[in-house]
Amino acid sequence: MLEGYLQRKAAWEILLKVSSGMYSDLALERVLAKYKFTSLDIAFITELSFGCIRYRNFLDYWIDHTSKLNHKKQPPKLRWLFHIGLYQILKMDKIPYSASISTTVEIAKKTELNKLSGVVNAVLRNATRKLKINDLPELPMNQAERISVKESLPIWLINEMITWYGINETEKIAMAFNKKPNIDLRVNTMKTTIKECLEILKRNNIDAGPINKLKNGLALKSKPRSIRKLPGYFEGKWLIQDRSSQWVAPLLSPIKGDKILDACAAPGTKTTHLAQLIEDDAEILAIDRSGIRLKLLKENLERLDIKSVKFLKIDATKLLDIKPEYINYFDKILIDAPCSGLGTLARNPDARWKITKETIDQLITIQEKLLETIVPLLNKNGLLVYSTCTICPSENNLLIEKFLKNNNDLELVFEKQILPNNDEAGDGFYAAIISYKK
Ligand SMILES: C[S@@+](CC[C@H](N)C(=O)[O-])C[C@H]1O[C@@H](n2cnc3c(N)ncnc32)[C@H](O)[C@@H]1O
Repeated sequence: MLEGYLQRKAAWEILLKVSSGMYSDLALERVLAKYKFTSLDIAFITELSFGCIRYRNFLDYWIDHTSKLNHKKQPPKLRWLFHIGLYQILKMDKIPYSASISTTVEIAKKTELNKLSGVVNAVLRNATRKLKINDLPELPMNQAERISVKESLPIWLINEMITWYGINETEKIAMAFNKKPNIDLRVNTMKTTIKECLEILKRNNIDAGPINKLKNGLALKSKPRSIRKLPGYFEGKWLIQDRSSQWVAPLLSPIKGDKILDACAAPGTKTTHLAQLIEDDAEILAIDRSGIRLKLLKENLERLDIKSVKFLKIDATKLLDIKPEYINYFDKILIDAPCSGLGTLARNPDARWKITKETIDQLITIQEKLLETIVPLLNKNGLLVYSTCTICPSENNLLIEKFLKNNNDLELVFEKQILPNNDEAGDGFYAAIISYKK
């Protein structure tokens, strides 16, 4: 039998924490800290718990197909336990049905769900019986509802995506949100070479290869036990950065001696990329309003041994008030804005259930304010890049369009939306290059 009762119980505990609002990564970390698991156990627990979180809609649909009581009426702890059992039965090929059922029932027996263990047994057995006779729940006829159930995304989001990109593209993106995300590295060419990195990875039995059109990128084809424990990580030979994110810093075409502002910089993935592109020979100011995230930026600068970056904890929209000498000062500015993250749902299992239209509206207000207040710091011959990791047009091209209408001395040099719609695409990202009109 693959992993036992305790591993499933840990996965269930993660679901309980996430349902009470905790981020999935943190919930995983907290629960794993309670037990002594092997790396194989951890991989199993991660797959099971994150899979259940992603497939919440789909699993609820199956509860309604196999239980007398609708999922909305189930006690929450029981609903999440059904998810643990059903996900194994429906989505994990290598686990015998009997193991999925017996271990899930055991959780019920050994917890406050004790009196409901018979119900757990009955519902899971019913699911396997229905699977065997191909009695599957009928998917809704309506296209949006069908994708919302099948790919387990909130219906409001699917409806929005259809208006943005049409049905076919929406379905491709929705499917990609349920795939395992790529693990990409950016090689720190100031300390090593792609060749040396490939050798280090190979010595550690990790298969890796180049990424199309990315000079310093490497895609891992097998997942290491811990990326941070690989030799080379602490020496700053590489960092983890998705391929789409690696596309952003070069858009600023930084050159040695440039004065560069990274206005939303922490944890510094793109700041360090900018420094790397000009071989640490420029004046880079990295600011962020989050002190905790700036600590991570500091660690990254130290680990990668970067000297050209000064950092400051400040609200970027107030920078010019505090430092009026920065008017028209910077040759290059990056605004990697806080956004809904709708391009990175594959990476963040719980994010799809947390984002709402209201939070997007609030973010748009912040994004507009950042642009308005930061542009005056740009040198008249300079370049500003605005980027996000979302696929929502009102945070991207529509926002830039509106901004340029209100600032007719500026123009769009370039813009691109990357959609996360296939295995090679990476995260969804948007970037626009803006300059003063010549
Ligand atoms: C998308 S993240 C930046 C990621 C970073 N550029 C990187 O590549 O590692 C957005 C950042 O903006 C910061 N932020 C949000 N509002 C801000 C503001 N008004 N001023 C400065 N930083 C802000 C957040 O704390 C967060 O660290």
